[in-house]
Amino acid sequence: MSDLFRIKGGIPLKGTISVSGAKNVALKVLTASLLFEGEVILKNIPQIGDVYGVMGLIQDLGGEVEFVEKSTVRVNSSGINANKLDLLVASKIRASFMFFAPLLHRFNEAHIPNPGGCRLGARPIDRVVSGMEALGVTVNYDSDTGFFHANMNKKPQGRYRFSKVSHTGTELLIMLGAISDGETIIENAALEPEVDDLIMLLNDGGASIRRYNDDIIITGAEKLVQKNPFTIRADRNEAATHAVLAITTEGDITLTNLATNDLDAFNKQILRAGGGIEALSESEIRYFYQGPLKGIDITTEPHPGFMTDWQPPMAIMLTQAEGESLIHEKMFENRFSYVEELQKVGADIQYVTLPVDNPDTFYEFNYEPGKEYKQAIRITGKTPLHNAVLQISDLRAGATLAIAALIAPGESIVHGAQHLERGYEDFVEKVRSVGGTIDKA
Ligand code: EPU
Repeated sequence: MSDLFRIKGGIPLKGTISVSGAKNVALKVLTASLLFEGEVILKNIPQIGDVYGVMGLIQDLGGEVEFVEKSTVRVNSSGINANKLDLLVASKIRASFMFFAPLLHRFNEAHIPNPGGCRLGARPIDRVVSGMEALGVTVNYDSDTGFFHANMNKKPQGRYRFSKVSHTGTELLIMLGAISDGETIIENAALEPEVDDLIMLLNDGGASIRRYNDDIIITGAEKLVQKNPFTIRADRNEAATHAVLAITTEGDITLTNLATNDLDAFNKQILRAGGGIEALSESEIRYFYQGPLKGIDITTEPHPGFMTDWQPPMAIMLTQAEGESLIHEKMFENRFSYVEELQKVGADIQYVTLPVDNPDTFYEFNYEPGKEYKQAIRITGKTPLHNAVLQISDLRAGATLAIAALIAPGESIVHGAQHLERGYEDFVEKVRSVGGTIDKA
């Protein structure tokens, strides 16, 4: 199977790109559709690897799901007749543990493999499991089979406070509480706007879910029935990737079909670094090169801070900025897998240790004293980039390496296209539409 990009870089990219629907909403609303009675229509769903993975899991369980138009999906869960996910497929998709909600509602027990997704550190689900237990679900892990087994004997309800935020953990508890005869309260819930799309879908179907800052109060419905097709928001991670592509190739790209205010924290840093931005409307924004860039310091944060998913593309932009930049990754372990690859194209990037007073509370992953972490990098610019043969190891790193190849004059080969295609719809076509030379081979 072809799994590489052949890219010729060094040309300013100019034009317009329409941003696709958000991966991190699509995966959740597809899973949440299984809580509904009858048919659910979802719009703006991107045709990407992870979406096909979740659709495959639904079909394996006996559900019906198909693209009825380019970005419209129809789901009907009435045929679901199994409560165990396939080990091979589910273990590759981190969001697969969200299936606990619909499977528990249907069967009162569910069997799901230890979730995977990008290899961004250990990524345990301890907080998620404690949250489920607080709502009355019993969860056991079988280390021989790699499966979590969950069961319940009453509708989930109760109160749970996340010790540290969890985006998908919050979403799973919302789904569990959405069909219930009682109330569920989630404290220190994730604030990401993607979570609000899930809430809107469930409220439209009959649940009552209200957010008060980082508290979410859920009054479950007896049943969920969709009244209107649901359109998901645009992918702000895809948008950030194309924005960096515009600025680093010294080009000019207008992004359409997105909620521009989802990018506020990103835009603030682009402006600090000297990138050009023109807000054209609430759904259109132009990114352009307006002169030399300068180095900046960034720390990734939960929403409304600078997203972890934006730091890999931002790193490549900062290789083209004058002076020193620092990136401190607070959300995940192991999110710098692109560093060695960027060094191959000539970037000056070094790992550094930044002093942190209380690492246990500062980092959002489960920090273990004594363990060696690589949580920060220093980038010194501006360095000319040259072509190379590169290897993608995770989704956002993939976009970063593709951008590096589009900056570097000459031909580069980027292996591991499937990682990028897990999350970027029509990447090749979109890059070509703004003048880039890229082929999948
Ligand atoms: N964590 C635990 N235990 C838990 C839950 C989380 O240790 O029970 C740790 C994680 O390992 C991580 C941190 O806590 O270090 C934050 O994890 P969180 O649960 O918030 O992240 P996630 O839900 O796994 C989602 C997105 C990520 C995005 C983050 C932050 C999906 C499928 N994934 O991850 O997206 O970076 O929230 O917004 O929604 C991507 O799209 O490339 C991606 C990784």
